Amino acid sequence: MRDFLKRLPKAELHLHIEGSLEPELMFSLAERNGVSLPYASVEEVRAAYDFSDLQSFLDLYYQGMSVLRTAEDFHDLAMDYFRRASAEGVVHVEMHFDPQAHLVRGIELPVVMEGLSLARRRAQRELGMSTALIMAFLRDRPAEEAMAVMESAAPYWEMLDAVGLDSAEQGNPPAKFVEVFERARQLGIPRVAHAGEEGPPAYIREALDLLDVCRIDHGVRCLEDLELVSRLRDEGVVLTVCPLSNVRLRVVERMADHPLPQLLDAGLRLTLNSDDPAYFGGGMLANFEACADAFGWSKEIFIQFAGTAIEAAFIGETRRLELH
Ligand code: HPA
Ligand code: ZN
Repeated sequence: MRDFLKRLPKAELHLHIEGSLEPELMFSLAERNGVSLPYASVEEVRAAYDFSDLQSFLDLYYQGMSVLRTAEDFHDLAMDYFRRASAEGVVHVEMHFDPQAHLVRGIELPVVMEGLSLARRRAQRELGMSTALIMAFLRDRPAEEAMAVMESAAPYWEMLDAVGLDSAEQGNPPAKFVEVFERARQLGIPRVAHAGEEGPPAYIREALDLLDVCRIDHGVRCLEDLELVSRLRDEGVVLTVCPLSNVRLRVVERMADHPLPQLLDAGLRLTLNSDDPAYFGGGMLANFEACADAFGWSKEIFIQFAGTAIEAAFIGETRRLELH
């Protein structure tokens, strides 16, 4: 099974590139940039990754990215991940990035864009891997700030495959970002949003109704609202599910308790993704394997997930045909 899952061409639709920062690279970038870390060793970093909820992870995630300062750093971060993913049979990666998390540290958007763009071109050239870029807004910061980022990204609008919404979900409903998502819609930029990870099913409805998103990131809490489940099925809304993330952030207690089998039984369109692979115990292959171990699914189920990801990816029809 492991061999089959590795060889299966996989498209990843839900990845935070800052969450792919492995402790080894964190240390080497800290040294290169003269940034001090509150850890003595790589082992100490890994030991600190014992999360109780989303916020406890976000605290370390924002701290970890303090080592990212130059375009070269962002390039190295992304290229490191693309190489690992490619070795696991990932053929397409859609990466969220968090401009506000860098702006607050004095790192301007052009620095981030230059580094990520360079890595994307190299991934295409050297790995034959296609990539897409999702500019995410931090939902626990003011909507006005998100709008300012949207406008300041004008030179890059054409490079954005979508905008997204992430960070602390509870108490920060999609409704807060109606205007910025409407602006993206006017500009012809597709929209996705994290919803129903820690937040209630009502946030999934809001993301669909108010933000006009084409995919829901996570969405696992939809099962608490059966009418919503029917709607998601009827409308063919794709959920980008991140099983290992859900276990590590205690959305579920153990893999065996993950609602993926119920979501599948409900006829929903599902994809498997790694979210923040450096923090949650593994990349795409580890997520696929964890599901195989926990649920004993047949190859056909994994082929279905991989196929759905290719259908829902932000790629042109030529590339889609190539991947199918
Ligand atoms: N959820 C919300 N925001 C995030 C996550 C996540 O899993 N990872 C990085 N930002
Ligand atoms: Zn996420």
